[in-house]
Amino acid sequence: MRTLIPATAAVGAVGVGLAGYATVIERNWFALRQFDVPVLPPGTRPLRVLHISDTHLTPGRRRLMSWIRALDDLDPDLVVNTGDSISHQDSVPYFLDSLGPLLDRPGVFVLGSNDLYAPVPKNPMRYIRRSKTRWWERRGPDLPWEKLRDEMVAAGWLDLNNQRGRLTVAGVDLALAGVHDSHIKRDRYEKVAGRADPGADLRIGVLHSPEPRLLDRFVADGYELLLAGHTHGGQLCLPWYGTLVTNCGIDRERARGLHRYPADGGAWLHVSAGLGTSPWAPARFACRPEASLLTLLPR
Ligand SMILES: [Fe+2]
Repeated sequence: MRTLIPATAAVGAVGVGLAGYATVIERNWFALRQFDVPVLPPGTRPLRVLHISDTHLTPGRRRLMSWIRALDDLDPDLVVNTGDSISHQDSVPYFLDSLGPLLDRPGVFVLGSNDLYAPVPKNPMRYIRRSKTRWWERRGPDLPWEKLRDEMVAAGWLDLNNQRGRLTVAGVDLALAGVHDSHIKRDRYEKVAGRADPGADLRIGVLHSPEPRLLDRFVADGYELLLAGHTHGGQLCLPWYGTLVTNCGIDRERARGLHRYPADGGAWLHVSAGLGTSPWAPARFACRPEASLLTLLPR
């Protein structure tokens, strides 16, 4: 008994320390990831694409807001937001203020489930077991996603929710297509289906959740760069092992970062581990919150 009590106290102290690290330190330890992607036609000038995702912003997160705002210093040519931007009724003006000067740059976006539905506490074991509960059908959307969408559109950003788009950025002709969030069954790929314009300099597919059945369709239609979020990189990861769960159909190895899709070629897939967390699970471990700067280069 004499040795059991100190051992129990030591385990408890380690647990409290890890929880404090995950909720206070790592959750606010934002990282900028940088990747070169050889995907442009020969002779094209490099293009800088800033990819943000899963901000899950609540009004009190001032460190996160100021970090996002400073991303404008990277001088991106294009901003891509793959959704889950807000987590509170009052978040829209704070999110727009965080973007700040980034809204004056060319941008595109899709929405995620958390832009529509306020977060609710969930049993983490159901998350790990990938519960099939149809929780999103419990009621209509209760977050101001239309205001969020309208403000980004008013700033000139392209809404790619089940839509195609076309942008010329720094002289590079981009054919774009996106789908709404498959996690809540709002994806309608048939609305964007068909061969991507081979006359464009680059074809980009944008989606919130990197669901293989959708990624496969983008690749089959000729999209060469696929951008997604949703996974949070696993959010609570094991050092030297990585992602435990992806919360969708993508494999653990491609739950974050830049990879080929399919693995033997075809397209490039970048999955952002995202900048935030649900307010009900405010912790990240071995998976820092992130934004990514993709430098697109000639093949
Ligand atoms: Fe998310």
